[in-house]
Amino acid sequence: MEKTLIILKPDCVQRRLIGRIVQRFEDKGLTIAGMKLMQIPNELAERHYAPHQGKPFYPGLIEYITSGPVVVLALAGQGVIDMARKQMGQTFGYEADPGTIRGDFGASKTYNLVHGSDAPESAETEIALYFQPGELLEYETPAHGWTFKPGES
Ligand code: RTP
Ligand code: MG
Repeated sequence: MEKTLIILKPDCVQRRLIGRIVQRFEDKGLTIAGMKLMQIPNELAERHYAPHQGKPFYPGLIEYITSGPVVVLALAGQGVIDMARKQMGQTFGYEADPGTIRGDFGASKTYNLVHGSDAPESAETEIALYFQPGELLEYETPAHGWTFKPGES
């Protein structure tokens, strides 16, 4: 099953929005395969955001993501990478559409509440940075058959 890495960033935790943001992914029918509260050490942040190294916003990004506790989730579901990105909205809250997480909860160019993997390759790499294989659970809830029609592609 396709999986993506979601991080509820430090502003999300400090603004006590964990429950409301996780609720949105649950409401969508996505399955929580892994979930943990942690503070990201500098070295891990640097590995995660290696593709952005050298960009003007990189130092601020590392400072932001390591600045306090975060909630890290692995979400599972068919098409989950794109679905979660659509739910998150555009990168900056002031540009994100209403109805998206960033559009409904954010207005900042720095504090944008959530991270989501942007492609299958980055999802795989990022999940491996935060979870051991044994920490991810495969299961189906009773609602699954009413969320995805059995056999639909
Ligand atoms: P993310 O990786 O966190 O899910 O966000 P994204 O794909 O929407 O945005 P991306 O381009 O990958 O940028 C990663 C994070 O860097 C910060 N950023 N700041 N000041 C700026 O111009 C700027 N651009 C990007 C944001 O925190 C963004 O989420
Ligand atoms: Mg990104």
